[in-house]
Amino acid sequence: MILGGSGYLGSAIAQVCDRAGAQVRVVSRSGEAFAGEGVRGDVRMPRLGLPPAALKQVQDTTHVVFTFGSVSWTSGPGQALETHSAGTKSALEFLRQLPNLEQAVHVSSLLALGRSEGRVTNRELYTGQKFRNWYEYGKYCAERHVRDTPDLPVGIVRFGPILGPDPRGGRLDTTHSLPAVFPHLLAGYPVHLAGRGDFPSWVTDVYSAAEIVHKALRNPIGRDTWSWFDPAKPTLREVFEEVCRPWGTVPKILEAKPLGRLVKLFGERMGTPAELAEYTDPWFDLDPAILDDIPRPWPIPEPGYLAATGQSLLGARAGRGISA
Ligand SMILES: NC(=O)c1ccc[n+]([C@@H]2O[C@H](COP(=O)([O-])OP(=O)(O)OC[C@H]3O[C@@H](n4cnc5c(N)ncnc54)[C@H](OP(=O)(O)O)[C@@H]3O)[C@@H](O)[C@H]2O)c1
Repeated sequence: MILGGSGYLGSAIAQVCDRAGAQVRVVSRSGEAFAGEGVRGDVRMPRLGLPPAALKQVQDTTHVVFTFGSVSWTSGPGQALETHSAGTKSALEFLRQLPNLEQAVHVSSLLALGRSEGRVTNRELYTGQKFRNWYEYGKYCAERHVRDTPDLPVGIVRFGPILGPDPRGGRLDTTHSLPAVFPHLLAGYPVHLAGRGDFPSWVTDVYSAAEIVHKALRNPIGRDTWSWFDPAKPTLREVFEEVCRPWGTVPKILEAKPLGRLVKLFGERMGTPAELAEYTDPWFDLDPAILDDIPRPWPIPEPGYLAATGQSLLGARAGRGISA
């Protein structure tokens, strides 16, 4: 059962589980499914808001994934906390009603670490950090709820920004998080980054992320926390260059350091999109050995997924229109 399985990441997870022979149910408010059976439900409601017949049907569920809620860095406290915090709490309660549950996986974000200082690993969650936005805080609360229910078999998998063409067949959604910067860059506008973006971006592609979640279900992860990013560790600058390549555009990346706090205050006016204004410096110091907590073999990110991301936006411009 994949809660939020009709979304960008959730649909890739549904496809990977389906291909591996699982009987897949996808729960979301729309009830849409791009692999498996779609079920209408809302994580904010008791028992996911499922009617009695559907509740009876899901009693055979053995594995559950939490991958619901928007990744918008600009969402307000209502949206971010209702879904990520209260929704996770209520989804955890729902797990208690599944008599055959073997393993659940909560999809978290490296951004739950907010502005953590010093080296962080999979062990830390609260390091005294501040949060740049409600999304980060919502993901922090969600992970906190999971960690605070030691009686349930729920593991945590953290990802940084996930890229690659949309597994549902459309173009990548550029209204939220890092992809919101792409139309701006592709149109030739500048962004300001410390060290011109020569710091880790912690990105990965959507299918290797989905395979990691599947691995966490099957391995199983138990109550551990894993973090996954492309082991090649592309810098933010490399990400922007590769995404822009199919457009024949060289991204205009300017040094942010001398501008310091001004970039954050007047980010947009100075050419930095709102989504990036708070992320102009290295995001946190992750221990590079963190990947070793994931048993090998590791999935291999789709070759050329960064350029394919830009390519899919180019296709969208030709077909359905993208306002770059
Ligand atoms: N994309 C990334 O870069 C990234 C990175 C790290 C972590 N994550 C985490 O991965 C998860 C999914 O991200 P995504 O990019 O796939 O987002 P997405 O494309 O917006 O998908 C969100 C999914 O959640 C469902 N949903 C939203 N509110 C719901 C509710 N109240 N009840 C049930 N389902 C609900 C949506 O369907 P309906 O709207 O139809 O309900 C959709 O299926 C999020 O938890 C996010 O924090 C994503």
